[in-house]
Amino acid sequence: MSEACTYVVFGATGNLSMTKLMPAFYHLEKHDRLDEAVKILAIGRRDWHRDEWMQSVKEAVMPKARGGFTDQVCERFCGRMDYLQMDILQTPDYARLKAFLADHHWPTNVVFYLSLGPDQFAPTVEQLGEAGLLKEEGGWRRVVLEKPFGFDSQSAKQLQTRLNRYLEEEQTYRIDHYLGKGMVQNLMVFRFANLMMEPLWNRNYIDHIQITHAEDKSVGTRAGYYDQSGAMRDMIQSHLLQLLALVAMEPPASMEAEALRNEKVKLLQSVRPILKQNVHNQAYRAQYAEGVIKGQRVPSYLQEPGVDEGSVTETYAAIKLYIDNWRWAGVPFYIQTGKNMPSNRTLVAIRFKHPPKQFFRESQVKKMEPNWIVFGIQPEESIRLELTAKEPGLEIRTQQTNLDATLKGDENSAYDAYEELLLDVIKGDRSLFLRYDEVKAAWKVVDPILQVWSSETAFIDTYASGSWGPEGAKKLFDHPEQCWRYHYKPEVL
Ligand code: BG6
Repeated sequence: MSEACTYVVFGATGNLSMTKLMPAFYHLEKHDRLDEAVKILAIGRRDWHRDEWMQSVKEAVMPKARGGFTDQVCERFCGRMDYLQMDILQTPDYARLKAFLADHHWPTNVVFYLSLGPDQFAPTVEQLGEAGLLKEEGGWRRVVLEKPFGFDSQSAKQLQTRLNRYLEEEQTYRIDHYLGKGMVQNLMVFRFANLMMEPLWNRNYIDHIQITHAEDKSVGTRAGYYDQSGAMRDMIQSHLLQLLALVAMEPPASMEAEALRNEKVKLLQSVRPILKQNVHNQAYRAQYAEGVIKGQRVPSYLQEPGVDEGSVTETYAAIKLYIDNWRWAGVPFYIQTGKNMPSNRTLVAIRFKHPPKQFFRESQVKKMEPNWIVFGIQPEESIRLELTAKEPGLEIRTQQTNLDATLKGDENSAYDAYEELLLDVIKGDRSLFLRYDEVKAAWKVVDPILQVWSSETAFIDTYASGSWGPEGAKKLFDHPEQCWRYHYKPEVL
């Protein structure tokens, strides 16, 4: 059960809040994870009455409710909520917010969740600060910032400077919802709770590591944000570099927030800087053209509502990175992400080297395959270890076999990343949130690529919607034997 607090959600009627935050709160309610006194105040621009808000929350939550929607849970959940219309740029509205919280005697521990556009973070925090709403008097005050934190290193620094005037680092929760995913946390458990992994986890045994995030969705209604952002900022700088850090970092001194974050920062700072003249060898971008996904014809990115005519924003991005430390020197890390691909999947695939001697070459039919460890992050939550074994029979013939652990629990143990993170904010546990130096190190990795791409406005490669991305991205591989692995199962390697 959580501590009592008030969650003030800015941008409550927006896409993220309706698709992720409200369903997450509903599930926390269902599983009795919220203290009775927890209150939720939805802030939106629309001039809604409380009942209109409740109705739209109900409609948003209903299709997402795990194990079926129940009116009883929804009533309890709605009983915690209220709606306040605000224009976040207007100073008097913050006085109204302050008065609302005081008049209703809601818990004085307050979380301000900024589910807003990135350019609204600083002005909102400044207004909250000026209104005295961030002073920790009679309770704590915490601010959750969605991504992206800045647009590049420079703007992230400027944003941080503005926040520093009103917020302590301990009050700042930079969210990366990937860190709340069960399988992402399992990466750490797998690495650090199994002794047999550590001796193999280095340049001596690993040929390369790849991280793939594919979505079968388009940009949908988010072109206003996405067209300014693109796949490199939207997915790689944030979520996928976090996955990289967890796969490759050194064992932390403890699982405490700072120890963990120290190791992630160290890892990100060890990524070899990409020189501008190497950008085209280490990064690739493309945009989806028309195509067919799951039997449906879909338009190209340029035909999506809100996309600038002639936009060269990438909906697919891939990079190759090297980590200049003793553990990983010389091992390439390949990362790719794309929208409008054939299906949704996120996986981390680790390919091992070949054994130094191929003893069975004479007798076997097939070429020896390397070992793989594949972490299915979503939709399957699974870990697969691929090995070579002897086929049954008199002859020595080898076959690929695997140890496959599907980790999906039952309905009661299933949860969405946001549920865990919303609770962590109440607990004051920042281990799954990003520290500023981490964000800064991640921007440093992608800055040179973004700079080069921003100067190339005349052309962008395309890939058919419903395909696995552009052919050109294959040129990133160091060896002909390396290739993207889109599938968790080996039969479709
Ligand atoms: C968000 C990005 O942060 O993550 C989206 O802005 C992307 O563009 C989403 O679709 C992917 O998250 P998930 O949890 O669906 O893999």
